[in-house]
Amino acid sequence: MSSNKVFIFDTTLRDGEQVPGCKLKQSQKLELAELLDQLGVDIIEAGFPISSPGDFQSVSEVAKIVKNATVCGLSRSVEKDIKAAADALVHAKKPRIHTGIGTSENHMKFKFNCGPEEIIRRAVAAVKYAKSFVEDVEFFAEDAGRSDNAFLAKVCEEVIKAGATVLNIPDTTGYCLPDEYGAKIKYLAENVKGIHKAVLSTHCHNDLGLATANSIAGVISGARQVECTINGVGERAGNTSLEEVVMILKQKLSDQYYTDINTKLLKPTSERVSFEMGMPVQANKAIVGDNAFAHSSGIHQDGVIKNRETYEIIDPLDVGVPKSSIILTARSGRAALAFRAKEIGYNLTKDELDIAYQSFLILADAQKEVRDNDLEKLLKQKVFA
Ligand code: KIV
Ligand code: ZN
Repeated sequence: MSSNKVFIFDTTLRDGEQVPGCKLKQSQKLELAELLDQLGVDIIEAGFPISSPGDFQSVSEVAKIVKNATVCGLSRSVEKDIKAAADALVHAKKPRIHTGIGTSENHMKFKFNCGPEEIIRRAVAAVKYAKSFVEDVEFFAEDAGRSDNAFLAKVCEEVIKAGATVLNIPDTTGYCLPDEYGAKIKYLAENVKGIHKAVLSTHCHNDLGLATANSIAGVISGARQVECTINGVGERAGNTSLEEVVMILKQKLSDQYYTDINTKLLKPTSERVSFEMGMPVQANKAIVGDNAFAHSSGIHQDGVIKNRETYEIIDPLDVGVPKSSIILTARSGRAALAFRAKEIGYNLTKDELDIAYQSFLILADAQKEVRDNDLEKLLKQKVFA
């Protein structure tokens, strides 16, 4: 089977940055945009230019410095938004305007107070207007996850006729199950006239913890762009996590799909985003959490020491983590203790290990983790005194 490229659309600087507490200064956005470009993302959504003069300026500066990726600015289906996005992107090598409107019953009734025909009219007008500035126009159907599929198909058809190059199908509220979201993408791929002229894109939120699963279901059903953020930062429970999608495609589906992400930069990029946003990454976060390659129970440690693959499905080096770690806790076994002792220069005999292990358990019961300095002290006092 031939391998298909999945475009990675990073929205850390837009959907991620709009989270309370994650706001970035212009200098921080510039630094992160450079890192994202080096990471190999295809599209950087740099911000929402109409939202504030500061964001306009940031998008404009990001557009100037990004060398490889397309730089994208968000807008509502409103002329002044679209014009602001176009102005902010004027220096981008590859500019994209991302415009759209809500398509669910809920959004039509409560946000726009209008019917489906008016939504289509506004959507088409917005795409045509954006197209007067740039060639690459992405349309988002907000709350597509809860939108009627037949209506969504109609909207997609009309915006493709108006010139949309990418169709973003957001599960804005993180409401879909993977099979529902996959079926939605499949329905659009099979029922929208002219769909071959546009790329279908996933944009999933994580309210039910399904953002990554839904994005992958979307790819399997025909989407060729995934919108995501580093560390999954984003509104409420977050967006799809870039590192998860990229590693799933690489580890599980590489016979069918590939991305251009340099996976060795995933951990350093995650750390930088976390630092700049002041948003810690949970220790058990897949791929980039501090515990993602840490082993602490005796059974697992014994296996990993014998062969890393007994309990690891990813080589940590592949994602920029220098090595797996064996953490010493009260659940650790002799194999782990001997291993860590050796790492700090003590090659213990069986008898030495037996003595050390008894003292180790007492210490480990008293504290959460036994670190190198604790271990060294213990060996000096109890084994080699
Ligand atoms: O979640 C969403 O629907 C969005 C759109 C603005 C693309 O972020
Ligand atoms: Zn979103």
